Amino acid sequence: MIIFILVHLVYLDRTGAEKEIVHQEAAEKQPDFSLGTTHATSSSTPNSTTNALPSAEPHLTACGVPVQSGPMIKVAHHKAYVIGSYVEHRLSSKMIRTVAIVFRCEEVQYYCLLCCDGRNISAAASLDIHSDHFEFDYGTADITCQVPTTCTTPAYVAITSQTHEGGRSVWNIQSFQPVGNQQPRTKNFPYAFTVCISVMYDYMNVLGLVQAMEMFKLLGVQKVAIYKTKCYPDTQKVLDYYVRQGFVDIISWTVSSYINVSRGWKKSDSPGEPEFFGQIVALNDCVYRYMYESQYVALQDLDELILPLKEDNWTTLIPQLEKIYQHHAGFEFENNIFPISLSRNKTPENTPDLWKQFEGENLLPHVYRIPNDPNVFNNFKVIVNPRLVLKATVHGLLDSMGGTVRVDPKIARMYHIKSYPSKYFSPESVIRDTHLWDYADKLIPAVSEVLRQALNIQ
Ligand SMILES: *[C@@H]1O[C@H](CO)[C@@H](O)[C@H](O)[C@H]1NC(C)=O
Ligand SMILES: *[C@@H]1O[C@H](CO)[C@@H](O)[C@H](O)[C@H]1NC(C)=O
Ligand SMILES: *[C@@H]1O[C@H](CO)[C@@H](O)[C@H](O)[C@H]1NC(C)=O
Ligand SMILES: *[C@@H]1O[C@H](CO)[C@@H](O)[C@H](O)[C@H]1NC(C)=O
Repeated sequence: MIIFILVHLVYLDRTGAEKEIVHQEAAEKQPDFSLGTTHATSSSTPNSTTNALPSAEPHLTACGVPVQSGPMIKVAHHKAYVIGSYVEHRLSSKMIRTVAIVFRCEEVQYYCLLCCDGRNISAAASLDIHSDHFEFDYGTADITCQVPTTCTTPAYVAITSQTHEGGRSVWNIQSFQPVGNQQPRTKNFPYAFTVCISVMYDYMNVLGLVQAMEMFKLLGVQKVAIYKTKCYPDTQKVLDYYVRQGFVDIISWTVSSYINVSRGWKKSDSPGEPEFFGQIVALNDCVYRYMYESQYVALQDLDELILPLKEDNWTTLIPQLEKIYQHHAGFEFENNIFPISLSRNKTPENTPDLWKQFEGENLLPHVYRIPNDPNVFNNFKVIVNPRLVLKATVHGLLDSMGGTVRVDPKIARMYHIKSYPSKYFSPESVIRDTHLWDYADKLIPAVSEVLRQALNIQ
């Protein structure tokens, strides 16, 4: 019990001086910490309940080195960038896992330099480049190191290579990064469902954004994490509104300032590095960032809606899926395309005029679905238990404890409303599917209200 208190508060500490004070407080308040590993509730540490990466305050230092939260911390002398670092509790010994983006050809012996209770401790790291790099030169990687037993609280880490100067080893680091996920949780998660939106780039679809957010809310989502590069001013106002509400977390996604990002999936079609604005590395970071904050995490895009057919929302759907399929790391929801071209300008009744003032596509008119051939592979997106995930990719998981299972499309499936070239389907074959309208009575007023408030419309 006492060990837990010290560990937890040292993690929150910023300087050696503060540490002494907090230690004393911890000793005085000890009887209050009866909740054990769930969380400490001391009023002097109001944010101690969160396991999320603490955002670095300006001028904060650890072991005499500036603290920087990232994402995108360059590893000195190498073509490698650190996104986020997390304690890995699930392996045979306690590890630090750093999600990174690396130049795949560079073979480097990396080290973790840990700042533990005010002392530097180094540990050799291993580099594991994910196989789903689509032949791009940069790829997602895990850099992992074992936490030495001499380190009780691995509060900060820097990834570095070692050089020698006059017989002494020298660590080339400019900053330390706070390490998230210090305390594992198995229940009482702050959020039931978090949606990870891996990259938002040049996004101007205000109406689509608000509709997606309000649909997520109707489905039971409590947090949406958006890895954002750039967006238009009106989109930003909507994001600001949801951030103020605590519904959206923005993770600043600056990969393109360091690496020429590709806008596509095929190196030949879309020159640049890495795949699609670094989507895979963002997804992996998101899984770890919300691992102990969210019971489930959905890895999907803004134009995709995973809808149950018999239940109202994910809150009732997921327990049902766990009963039917037993426990797995995640559930796969089959992609169903609703081509925008088929029903543009056909709005259902009661669509407010207000919506027409905004950039973007109204989702509600799109009720023509291209049938999926059950005999061929159909793509999917997943809702996962993040604590069982080791590596995520765009469609599902690369490595997990338990794998994923395909959900019967009669129970739930993904509605994907998008531009889709007519050469890929025959208009005669499409199926009318108005399931989205089951949400319209709640969705329409909610969207109008957000548009009014976020964009200050009378
Ligand atoms: C606690 O976290 C919330 C949300 O991240 C933030 O708005 C607030 O300012 C933090 N409080 C303190 C005292 O750091
Ligand atoms: C930790 O290591 C860094 C990098 O070598 C150095 O700048 C810093 O002074 C060291 N801090 C302590 C407390 O030894
Ligand atoms: C989900 O659906 C159930 C049953 O229909 C309902 O009781 C619950 O309030 C819904 N949850 C949300 C978040 O809408
Ligand atoms: C990206 O590409 C442009 C033109 O090809 C080049 O001038 C620039 O230096 C590149 N930037 C990076 C970060 O590689």
